[in-house]
Amino acid sequence: MTNIKNLIRIEDLDKKQILSIIKKAADFKKSRKSNCLVNKIGAVLFFEPSTRTRLSFEAAILKLGGKFIGFTDASTTSQTKGESLEDTISIVEKYADFIIIRHPEAGAADRAAAVTKKFVINAGDGANEHPTQTLIDLFAIQETQGKLDNLNIAIAGDLKYGRVPHSLVRALKLFNNKIFLVSPDSLKMPKEYLGNIDYQEKKDLLKILPQMDILYMTRVQKERFKNLSEYNKVKNSFILKKEMLKKVKTNLKILHALPRINEIETDVDKTKHAYYFNQAANGVYVRMAILEKYA
Ligand code: CP
Repeated sequence: MTNIKNLIRIEDLDKKQILSIIKKAADFKKSRKSNCLVNKIGAVLFFEPSTRTRLSFEAAILKLGGKFIGFTDASTTSQTKGESLEDTISIVEKYADFIIIRHPEAGAADRAAAVTKKFVINAGDGANEHPTQTLIDLFAIQETQGKLDNLNIAIAGDLKYGRVPHSLVRALKLFNNKIFLVSPDSLKMPKEYLGNIDYQEKKDLLKILPQMDILYMTRVQKERFKNLSEYNKVKNSFILKKEMLKKVKTNLKILHALPRINEIETDVDKTKHAYYFNQAANGVYVRMAILEKYA
């Protein structure tokens, strides 16, 4: 049974619930099977492009015995005729048992949840949050480091517009780690996501790299910039190259929610530190765990 109302922001889950999802995801990865979504239909509503989030949610629903309806492009829906998000959700809720929504506007998942009693999962709302990605990220940290505490974690890149680092930092408040936020001045993380977490702001990634257990690289979010010239100024701020990994700890793992553009060179992929493709693969298990617990 659902014991959270919706999953809109990572703070909808407490530490115990997060750890329980990670445990369940590990069980699914090992061998666990479930038919908990038999006779259930999920609405998968993507108003913004996606590869991993949509496909891994759809795979998770199918693996749990459920079915799904939805769209990958809002231009094929009556939104183009001027229908509001609220009216769209009020209709979709009649057809589905739970709703997964990605939308370019921050707060869109809240607006959806306000007009339905069906369980709503935020699959990314603009530059705000991406809570299910954070659960995948925590799963990757647990899987690679064997713990979620006492680690040096650097998050580098676009910390202003990136919804992935916003949700991740909010989750990391629940654990005891050293957090290093690495970005140009214009892409610093807004204070509202930081709350009372301890962190250090840095500009030189190479200098801090030898201390790190986790390096979380992020994409500069071109689509969120109002002005292309501003994007061009920062698009090459951090480019991770294989030669930069010579002095790192043996346990360092590099994470990235993907897609990447140029922020991790492809020769990094073959190093023992690259974990981003495994991280994305785990998305199915983590999303199965979320759906089994709450959908
Ligand atoms: N990590 C992630 O959200 O990727 P997609 O945009 O491809 O869904």
